[in-house]
Amino acid sequence: MYIFSGNEKVILLCFCTESPSPTETDEEDEDIFNKILKVNKDSSQFLQEGDIVPRRSRSAINCRHCNWPQSSDGIVRIPYELDPTYEEGHVKGIHEAMAEFEALTCINFVKRKTERDYLSIRSADGCWSNYGKVGGGQTVSVMKAGCMWKGVIQHELEHALGFLHEHSRSDRDKHVKIMWEYISPADRPDFRKFENSNNLDLPYDYSSVMHYGPYTFTNTTGKATIVPIPDGSVHIGQRQGMSNLDVAKINKLYNCSRCSTILDGPSGSLRSANYPRNYSDNTNCVWLIRTRGKKVSLHFQAFQLQKTTSCQGDYVKVYDGSSKSSPVLLDKTCGSKIPNGIVASSNLMLVEFITDGAHTASGFQAIFTAVRTQRRFSIHN
Ligand SMILES: *[C@@H]1O[C@H](CO)[C@@H](O)[C@H](O)[C@H]1NC(C)=O
Ligand SMILES: *[C@@H]1O[C@H](CO)[C@@H](O)[C@H](O)[C@H]1NC(C)=O
Ligand SMILES: *[C@@H]1O[C@H](CO)[C@@H](O)[C@H](O)[C@H]1NC(C)=O
Ligand SMILES: [Zn+2]
Repeated sequence: MYIFSGNEKVILLCFCTESPSPTETDEEDEDIFNKILKVNKDSSQFLQEGDIVPRRSRSAINCRHCNWPQSSDGIVRIPYELDPTYEEGHVKGIHEAMAEFEALTCINFVKRKTERDYLSIRSADGCWSNYGKVGGGQTVSVMKAGCMWKGVIQHELEHALGFLHEHSRSDRDKHVKIMWEYISPADRPDFRKFENSNNLDLPYDYSSVMHYGPYTFTNTTGKATIVPIPDGSVHIGQRQGMSNLDVAKINKLYNCSRCSTILDGPSGSLRSANYPRNYSDNTNCVWLIRTRGKKVSLHFQAFQLQKTTSCQGDYVKVYDGSSKSSPVLLDKTCGSKIPNGIVASSNLMLVEFITDGAHTASGFQAIFTAVRTQRRFSIHN
């Protein structure tokens, strides 16, 4: 996670915090949408629902032309340009947020060459975006001071992909109660519901990166404006990044044939499909393990894959980070020898499992845990 102060000279890089100082805990614990609103308070851009640039003529939520086109190879390539004033750390932060889309969905963000429609990612005044593809160069504002959080960047990119806030769904009243009595009249439009939203036949997601936090736009301290029903204690909002349902929704809207899972508990397990029965041919699955502020440690308990020279057939590969361009922790591995345990350098690890068209076996099972780490800091220069 990167925190960029307003003062360009001071860049605070904070990794794997085990016992963060109170202010940082607050920052870490803050809902993504709260972070966005704090920054946008001072924005001169006219925004709806806190961070969406209104479109002149927008007919419906289901507009087909809002989607970015898919290439014949199944990849949706979205060209982008970055603000030339971004420094190395900003660029790295934005690339990391983008890399998760690439690892988990068929959305690829590619540097613009001459494409007509593209994202112009700039440090304008706030964290905001249009909804869907507008045509031509469209701005996604990721301000240096305030918006440089993976979840915030992903939230704004998801708007540009054509996603609205989760609680604007047509079926939201079955899942949350809007507490109008704590919402000032001027903020009421920010809670509007879109009767014709495209819900993709996927469940309502309290932990979507696109969900407001419970106190969003409240006019009375301590009073929530959005309360989950029937169980008001369900956590709403996100702090880390995309949820499994966010990923599923992108894959469904864009017809991505992807098999991807985010594992974000403090510990858990993963296994190949059908395990302990044989896995299928021609599969391509990834698991993104995202623990909170601790290093990920992975231990294989069972391992039985087709054995080929250099593992060019079926294999497991593990990356030190959230994308396939991250450093490799465990190179292509196959056969029946259980690999040694692996520890990532951060709270992110990506496990890839590829199978070819011939021979299967029982597959693998592994467990992950979050291990304590030293707090590391590099401040000032
Ligand atoms: C909060 O909003 C409610 C509903 O719009 C309004 O009746 C109330 O006066 C507002 N309270 C404050 C402190 O502005
Ligand atoms: C996905 O597939 C459906 C049905 O085949 C099609 O109607 C839709 O336009 C496709 N969506 C995209 C983004 O290509
Ligand atoms: C399952 O995998 C084993 C190798 O581990 C193989 O011998 C067996 O034929 C496979 N069974 C099926 C039904 O494919
Ligand atoms: Zn938003």
